Amino acid sequence: MIPVGRTSRVAGVCGFRLQGMARIDASTHDEDLVRVYGPATWQVYDELDISLNPRGPDWLHDLAADLIPANGNVIDAGCRDAAHLVQLMRAHPSARGFGIDPVPLHVEKAQSLVVENGLQDRVEVMLSDIESAATTGKQFDFVWCRDVLEQVADLQTAARALASLTRPTGTLLVFTTVATDLLSPDEAAMLKRHLANVPANLSRSAVEDAFPAAGLDVIQCHEIGTEWREWAEERHAPASTALLRLARLRRDRARLDALHGSDIVDHVEANLHWEIYQFIGKLASLVYVLRPTATR
Ligand SMILES: C[S@@+](CC[C@H](N)C(=O)[O-])C[C@H]1O[C@@H](n2cnc3c(N)ncnc32)[C@H](O)[C@@H]1O
Repeated sequence: MIPVGRTSRVAGVCGFRLQGMARIDASTHDEDLVRVYGPATWQVYDELDISLNPRGPDWLHDLAADLIPANGNVIDAGCRDAAHLVQLMRAHPSARGFGIDPVPLHVEKAQSLVVENGLQDRVEVMLSDIESAATTGKQFDFVWCRDVLEQVADLQTAARALASLTRPTGTLLVFTTVATDLLSPDEAAMLKRHLANVPANLSRSAVEDAFPAAGLDVIQCHEIGTEWREWAEERHAPASTALLRLARLRRDRARLDALHGSDIVDHVEANLHWEIYQFIGKLASLVYVLRPTATR
């Protein structure tokens, strides 16, 4: 990197040399080199090898612990394999649980996990999306909606549905991810090839406008930043795996496209970037604790 300000000096002056198209002051650049290869640089690297004790995904369960009343009923809206619903139910033995997901394979896996954990007497899992569940009139003391708003067809409709599923005295916990200013237009275009995510839902302002319009008050907002990714990387290096997969995908794309279809290969490429972009702050994860507006 050429230090700013050193490229505009008069050409041909003794002590300058060409590096690429820019002229740099050889004598001061040598000072930079001495600094770069001096002990401070390595000390910074050493400090960066020390964990900053990031919060991990279990932090969300700690947050939920104070929000689930004794004997309360809980819905995991978009439960996938019910791993989180099972964790919530184990932590709250007097609670009753309900899981919904619109993907049949997820519901099958969720039902199996519930049975494996001996929770079938107090946990039910059904094939449904949030929007349809809201039309049943059922309401819950605690609504858990983790990593789902990115995928709903319409943010405002989904926010209204979540509000309907929450008892007037209940609490809704939402975890979702939005794009930051660090995400370039080209990167955003590439992420659009993710087949499940809806690009409009990755706007923080769209998410935060949808809540009050749906009759929900934001009680708490927590910025996760890069912490969950740091936490995971410190334990099992998933970003390294994602980058390795990306490199292989790019070198082997023609074969993968022919074998599986370019739509799914594009989707996998976007999803692998998703994890990396969360790690370097191009995507930011947010947690909201919400309550129905009192007048609703
Ligand atoms: C990224 S996964 C997150 C799963 C789980 N909540 C978790 O945190 O591990 C997104 C899930 O949302 C589900 N989903 C997508 N749209 C939905 C909707 N409209 N209503 C309910 N679930 C939905 C998907 O089927 C998928 O299981």
